[in-house]
Amino acid sequence: MTRQMGVGGTLDVVAAEDLVKEYDGLQAVRGINFRIKARECFGFLGPNGAGKTSTVKMIYGLSPVSAGKLTVLGMDVRTKIRDIKRRLGVVPQENNLDPDLKVLQNLLVYASFFNISGSEARNRAQELLEFFGLADKAKERVESLSGGMKRRLTIARALINKPDLLILDEPTTGLDPQARHMVWQRLRQLKEQGVTLILTTHYMEEASQLCDRLVIMDRGEILVEGNPHQLVSEQAGEEIVETSSSEEMIVHPATLEDVFLKLTGRKLQD
Ligand SMILES: Nc1ncnc2c1ncn2[C@@H]1O[C@H](COP(=O)(O)OP(=O)(O)OP(=O)(O)O)[C@@H](O)[C@H]1O
Ligand SMILES: [Mg+2]
Repeated sequence: MTRQMGVGGTLDVVAAEDLVKEYDGLQAVRGINFRIKARECFGFLGPNGAGKTSTVKMIYGLSPVSAGKLTVLGMDVRTKIRDIKRRLGVVPQENNLDPDLKVLQNLLVYASFFNISGSEARNRAQELLEFFGLADKAKERVESLSGGMKRRLTIARALINKPDLLILDEPTTGLDPQARHMVWQRLRQLKEQGVTLILTTHYMEEASQLCDRLVIMDRGEILVEGNPHQLVSEQAGEEIVETSSSEEMIVHPATLEDVFLKLTGRKLQD
């Protein structure tokens, strides 16, 4: 699959300044700042309720910005969201495939929202089904797919308009390891093809495997930003020495989990 990039080398794909999301007086996102560059994979890592979904929903224009500034692909989300949306692919936290339609039809109907129709739509849909290992499922009902297949179909659907920026809210939550690894492999291939990726996750392994840079969020704030491997060595060192319940010394390589623990005193995953 080849794709045309409409994004210049130095332009920030997303820039947020003092970005706030407030729901009925509750600040879910508390004045955060970040910049995402073209062709990188940028992650929002954090526990439940950290504000990850609230942040990406503002980026993809589902949820209005409460305060601060947010530009996507060089355009202000407050005034240019229609133009922005044409160039985005979105994988929401919950799959929202149409259960009444077959697999291929899900892609074709979605293509029509971008005014892509006829042989162009069918070609793109076929190509995406092949890319995600779903070609033999084209005529099946969505209901009959496994969780991993539904997730792959949702990602395939998000690519139908050849987006410059793909936003994935917890791409692999709930998937078994094999299904998760397949999604990771495909996301790496998309990045090689020049797509900028934004993902949220509470899996530190996902963040460290895929992200060039990430922010760790907690309670609406960004605690730290950087390359995952550098963050681990700067914040947590090379290895962690723990004492087990049976008083034995355990030594393991430091991970992003240790970074989170050091910064908050809490564990990232429940
Ligand atoms: N539509 C809403 N109305 C009111 N409060 C909301 C709404 N959406 C989210 N919140 C609250 O905002 C905070 C951040 O939620 P958000 O969904 O952004 O977190 P998250 O990091 O995506 O968490 P998770 O890992 O569970 O998906 C939480 O306290 C949540 O209860
Ligand atoms: Mg979320």
